[in-house]
Amino acid sequence: MIILKDITKDYTNKEQVTHALRGINVTIQDGEFVAIVGTSGSGKSTLLNIIGAMDYATSGKYMFHDREITACDLKELHEFRKENISFVFQNFALMDKYTVYENVEMPLIARHIKHRKSIVMDYLEKMGIADLKNKIPSHLSGGQQQRCAIARALAADTPVLLADEPTGALDQNTGNEIMKCFEEINKNGKTVILITHDINIANRCKRVIHIEDGKIID
Ligand SMILES: Nc1ncnc2c1ncn2[C@@H]1O[C@H](COP(=O)(O)OP(=O)(O)OP(=O)(O)O)[C@@H](O)[C@H]1O
Ligand SMILES: [Mg+2]
Repeated sequence: MIILKDITKDYTNKEQVTHALRGINVTIQDGEFVAIVGTSGSGKSTLLNIIGAMDYATSGKYMFHDREITACDLKELHEFRKENISFVFQNFALMDKYTVYENVEMPLIARHIKHRKSIVMDYLEKMGIADLKNKIPSHLSGGQQQRCAIARALAADTPVLLADEPTGALDQNTGNEIMKCFEEINKNGKTVILITHDINIANRCKRVIHIEDGKIID
């Protein structure tokens, strides 16, 4: 279970302060399938980054089951992410030093999983990019990079999957296939939280959280 209590996030650059989140209160149960929607700049990515422990809140409390994430040090946060969170980033965040195959394999190595090849190939095939496995990410199209980022997140097999606009670079058919994958892993008990601008994608999620100007609105 994820509990956010009065979470705020301020970004301070030189003299300018941006209040990206202004008191977020939300509880997300294990196994939920949630869409976060809202206009550009409303705070969606900031919120997802905090849920994924990629960033610190400025104030408030974040509980994940019995653990207070807002009280963790960097080492504890790293462990927490490794065990619990997979992330599909808005900008994909693939590593160009490595091939497509190696990018997807990375979270499996981090978690000391053996017999990785069949797992990696399985997700590359699911995403329709198995034939691209030896390429480096920057030599792929935007949609192919997005599918690689999704394969990496799914292969990690963590209890929580967070995805920032996971279908933003994809045509409707491919986006549909990706949603089917997310629905399947959600059926298997995983919590899925995704950000989308696409009303059709949001409607397929079991719960929609609207965020406007750093606040959740009903
Ligand atoms: N690193 C940063 N430094 C300063 N301001 C930031 C930073 N990241 C985000 N912001 C600001 O915080 C606010 C929320 O940004 P955020 O990225 O969460 O929006 P978003 O809802 O994800 O938008 P989009 O739909 O365009 O991705 C925006 O006003 C943005 O300019
Ligand atoms: Mg964003």
